[in-house]
Amino acid sequence: MEHLLIKGKKALNGEVMISGAKNAVVAIIPAAIMANGVCIIDNLPSIEDVRCLQDTLIKLGAVCELIGEGTLMVDSSNLTNFNATFDSVRRIRASYYLMGALLGRFKEAKVALPGGCNFGTRPIDLHLKAFRALGAEIEEDYENGIISLKAERLIGTDIFLDTVSVGATINAMLAATLAEGVTTIENAAKEPHIVDTANFLNMMGAKIKGAGTDVIRITGVEKLHGAEYMIIPDQIEAGTYMIAAAVCGGNVCVKNIIPKHMDSLSAKLREMGCVIEEGDDYINVISTGKLRATRVKTMAYPGFPTDLQPQMVAGLAKAEGISLLTETVWENRFQYIDQLKKFGCEISVDGRVATIHGVNQLFGADVMATDLRAGAAMVIAGLASNGITKIGNVRFIDRGYEKIEYKLKALGADICRVKE
Ligand code: UD1
Repeated sequence: MEHLLIKGKKALNGEVMISGAKNAVVAIIPAAIMANGVCIIDNLPSIEDVRCLQDTLIKLGAVCELIGEGTLMVDSSNLTNFNATFDSVRRIRASYYLMGALLGRFKEAKVALPGGCNFGTRPIDLHLKAFRALGAEIEEDYENGIISLKAERLIGTDIFLDTVSVGATINAMLAATLAEGVTTIENAAKEPHIVDTANFLNMMGAKIKGAGTDVIRITGVEKLHGAEYMIIPDQIEAGTYMIAAAVCGGNVCVKNIIPKHMDSLSAKLREMGCVIEEGDDYINVISTGKLRATRVKTMAYPGFPTDLQPQMVAGLAKAEGISLLTETVWENRFQYIDQLKKFGCEISVDGRVATIHGVNQLFGADVMATDLRAGAAMVIAGLASNGITKIGNVRFIDRGYEKIEYKLKALGADICRVKE
């Protein structure tokens, strides 16, 4: 059992380097098995979800090795197993990308239902609808938690997504890349990692246009070749450090990022009283630690990301006045609020709206991370609190944050990891 121990109330100052994007790499590693050749993936974050996918690819018969710090080599030339039904697959949500990748390349896949964070029901009906539209036959065995997909041929078609879904957009794009003819995905999601995955596929020989807009057009190709690719920086990791700097006070340079990806958060932090300075690949957050209340609504990109919602709630807990945070993406993403209340946060939840009454002081608490981003919210609350905070279930945080305690310590935080 590992815990994070934090002694709060230290201002944060200095630079923090942001790692490669988790939600991009978890799509790009499965996409790499679509190539008949070697793929090299750079700027790989050292996080649990990557290790889990690496393990999964090896079990499928691919060669998947770290060949340097932050560089992964994937060679799936000899991959012959299309059944990803083992336990490692169930540990993460993004294992669903193996469906699109295996179906595209081999026209056959058997994949265990995905796990990941629990924010209420997380359906994959739109993914399956897209595969069916492309010509796949699908067996959904919910008793054993396995989805089997098979197609004689995949034929390009028009796909309209009923809901804007990141996962369904990427999965449809993966399968359509190796389909015959043209596929159009309408009402597509526009998140940065969709553009990143499309860029990687195009480097491998795919013909994808429009990623980053709500209409993506894919002209199918017969096969893909290997490529070398650099993952974009992690928007959510960057946002987590920006919020931490805003709440704790100080002057933090969040480096190796794409500032445009942070626009919705930068606007909110300015509204709350921080100075935000942008450079080509960095943002400076300058804060006195005294924040004003605001209203936030989570939306698909370029709106405010749901994956920064818990961290923002922790930030607003000390902002002067009453803030409202509306969660529009997930039906049940406030389960962690009970843990935040242990710090003295005054928050009430009514359906999809959290009302946050800002308080002057938070107090260190003994809490459990309930999921990945909720864990990050507890780290922020601990940094902003008087006294000692102990956070359990660190494995959730490790799924998406590389060396979190080292990065925060370098900024002046008093934080360490302890084993019990
Ligand atoms: C991805 C991110 C996750 C983030 C979410 C929203 C990855 C690996 N995970 O998750 O961190 O919180 O985007 O930005 O990138 N929906 C359906 N049917 C489907 C699929 C989705 O109804 O088949 C609904 C969901 O219930 C949800 C909404 O669509 O309300 C958005 O979900 P989606 O964008 O698909 O999220 P994920 O791809 O699972």
